[in-house]
Amino acid sequence: MTEYALITGATSGIGYALAEELARRGNNLILASRSLNKMQEIKRIFAPKYRVEIVCVKIDLSRPQAPEKLYTFCAQNAYTVGILVNNAGIGLPVREQAEQSLAESERLFQLNLHSPLVLSQLFGKALKKRRRGYILNVASTAAFQPMPYAALYGASKAFVLSLSEAMHIELQKYGVGVTALCPGITDTNFFQHGRPRVPAFLYKLLPPELVAQRAVKAMYQKKIYVVPYFQHWLIAQFSRFITRKTAARIMRRLEIMRKKIR
Ligand SMILES: NC(=O)c1ccc[n+]([C@@H]2O[C@H](COP(=O)([O-])OP(=O)(O)OC[C@H]3O[C@@H](n4cnc5c(N)ncnc54)[C@H](OP(=O)(O)O)[C@@H]3O)[C@@H](O)[C@H]2O)c1
Repeated sequence: MTEYALITGATSGIGYALAEELARRGNNLILASRSLNKMQEIKRIFAPKYRVEIVCVKIDLSRPQAPEKLYTFCAQNAYTVGILVNNAGIGLPVREQAEQSLAESERLFQLNLHSPLVLSQLFGKALKKRRRGYILNVASTAAFQPMPYAALYGASKAFVLSLSEAMHIELQKYGVGVTALCPGITDTNFFQHGRPRVPAFLYKLLPPELVAQRAVKAMYQKKIYVVPYFQHWLIAQFSRFITRKTAARIMRRLEIMRKKIR
C-alpha cells in the first residue's frame, strides 16, 4: 500500500521546507494549498529528484467545510496518509484585537484552529486504527505566552500546542506520534504585516530548512514538542518563571516595536 505525507500550506516557507525534507527521506507527498501552479512546480522538481509520488490538492482551508473535504478526497482516492502535517497558517495586522476585522479574524480562526483540529481528529482516528503514523502540528513560540497586538494569532498557536500535547498522550499507546513544532521567527513570507524587530544577537532569524530538518527529526522521534533552535527554546521558557501579566507586558513591547516598522 502506497503511503503519503499530507502537508497543508506547502507552497512556501516552512511548509515547502517540510515537504522537501519529507520527500528527501523518501515519503510520497500530498500537497494541499490554494496555489495549484506553485504545487505543480514543486511536483515537477521534487518528484524526479527524490523519486516520490506527489499529489496536488487545490483547497482553501479557511473555508468551514474544507478540512472534511480534504479528508474525504484522500479516503475516496484510497490515498493512505501515514504522516499529517498541519502547517498552513496566517497572521493578522499588528493591532488591538478589538480593532481587527471580524471577517479576517474568522478566516484566521478557520485556518489556524479549525483546520488542524478537524484534520488531526479525522486522520488521528485513521492512524489510531492502523496503530502507526505521525501528526506534526505547526504551532509557534507565540504559543507559550499571551501576545498583545497579535492576540488571536497567539491564542491560535496556544490552542495548537495544547491540542497536540493532549493528543500526543492519547495516541501514544496506539503507536501514533503527535508533535507540536514551535518555531521562533523564521525567514518566510509570513511577515507581510511586519517582521518583529529584535536585535540579531538576541534572536536569530531561522532559515526554514533548519526548522524543517529539526522538526522532521523530532516527529520521527515522537517528541511531544520541539522548538528548533536552543536560543529560541530558552526564550520560550521565560514565561514559566514570571507572572502571566509580566509575560504579556513583555510581548506587548515586542509587538509595539513590530508595529512601528510597518
Ligand atoms: N515564519 C515564522 O516566523 C513562523 C514562526 C512560527 C510559526 N510559524 C507558522 O508556520 C506556518 C507556516 O508559515 P510560514 O512562515 O511558512 O508562512 P508562509 O511562507 O506565508 O506560508 C504559508 C503557507 O500556508 C498556505 N496557506 C495560506 N492560507 C491558506 C489557506 N487559506 N488554505 C490553504 N493553505 C493556505 C500558503 O499557501 P497558498 O498561498 O498557496 O495557499 C503557504 O504555503 C504557519 O502556521 C505559521 O503560523 C511561522
